[in-house]
Amino acid sequence: MSGDKKNKLDTELGLAGRSPDDNFGILNPPVYHASTVAFPTVAELEAAELKKFDTTYYGLYGTPTSFALEDGLKKLEDANHAVIVGSGLGSIAATLAGLLKSGDHLLMTESAYFPTIKFCNNFLKKFGVDITYYDPMIGENIKELIRPETRVVFTEAPGSITFEVQDIPAIAKVAHAAGVLVVMDNTWSAGYYYKPFDFGVDVSVQAVTKYIGGHSDLMMGSITMRDRDLYDKIMLSASSFGHSPQPDDCYLALRGLRTLAPRLKQHFKTGLILAKWLAARDEVEAVIHPALEGCPGHEIWKRDFTGATGLFGVVLKDKYSDEDRNRMMEGLKLFPIGFSWGGYESLVVHDSPARARKTYKFPHPGPYLRIHAGLEDPDDLIRDLEQGLALL
Ligand SMILES: Cc1ncc(COP(=O)(O)O)c(C=O)c1O
Repeated sequence: MSGDKKNKLDTELGLAGRSPDDNFGILNPPVYHASTVAFPTVAELEAAELKKFDTTYYGLYGTPTSFALEDGLKKLEDANHAVIVGSGLGSIAATLAGLLKSGDHLLMTESAYFPTIKFCNNFLKKFGVDITYYDPMIGENIKELIRPETRVVFTEAPGSITFEVQDIPAIAKVAHAAGVLVVMDNTWSAGYYYKPFDFGVDVSVQAVTKYIGGHSDLMMGSITMRDRDLYDKIMLSASSFGHSPQPDDCYLALRGLRTLAPRLKQHFKTGLILAKWLAARDEVEAVIHPALEGCPGHEIWKRDFTGATGLFGVVLKDKYSDEDRNRMMEGLKLFPIGFSWGGYESLVVHDSPARARKTYKFPHPGPYLRIHAGLEDPDDLIRDLEQGLALL
């Protein structure tokens, strides 16, 4: 059941990876637990190995279970190839390690997920890659930073703490003119509300851990691309580091893909309800949500994205202290304090972008918190936020 090309994405996400005719009529793809794949002859084993990553010949390189998920990931982002690794951070590390070598130069947005920056500083630098951090709103002016040895511009749109929406087409135009690849962390849109390859991205990475998994119970990353050479380079990197798609998690992620569309529509709706409610409160200095005016790159979001998910930032008035904010966060009943996002549940976490940014100024000095709007009833979430704000 391969699906009709004319189907819309929501339909295709339901059909992805299914082949009941090969599985006793059972609708969902089975979970293959595999290290060894046995071959009747040496010649057949060698032939399978020659097919590189396109067939099942050892668990590390994929099984029908991971190929079924890859089918869905490719449909989601309109890609030709997909690589699955053990976490979102793994997808970033495997991609950068696959595309860069000693002596190369990397342009990295300073708004990137912080462990991405730690990977650059702790590992890429050690292996002789030079890194320049840039202001995410740089747009076409990135050309001033491109050098003969620049190989990759890494983008994240919007940034998952400060939510600047980058002008990817403007960046891609000058990057491509200089022979530089554009990599994007597309986790915020879940690949549903932003189609990276339509805007000039060469490689898209996502933490499947977030919205695709959708239930806060798995760790996984995806890397997608249209170009076969890029796939070969990155798959070589991912497999050389020993990233192996875990079959049960692949099954869960594919199940997550089936319900991604309706979940995201609810996250979008609830996120906006909460963001607008918070923006109208006296205690709040700013709400940074790509779909709201005032968010850096809001116009770009309107131009390039087809929706928003449930993650946004809130800055309290400067008269409050970090301790006040912490008391408020700890008083919330429906927003557990914790890292990550994209699950069914609402979450809250703190950060301090005003202190962390170096290449540009985060304009709000007050205490910062990041909210993930989950699938609970928005009225209950607002009641909880109201009693939390009262604790300030
Ligand atoms: C934007 C973004 N990219 C990547 C990651 C890394 O994903 P994982 O937690 O699966 O390593 C995260 C995790 O929070 C993230 O927020």
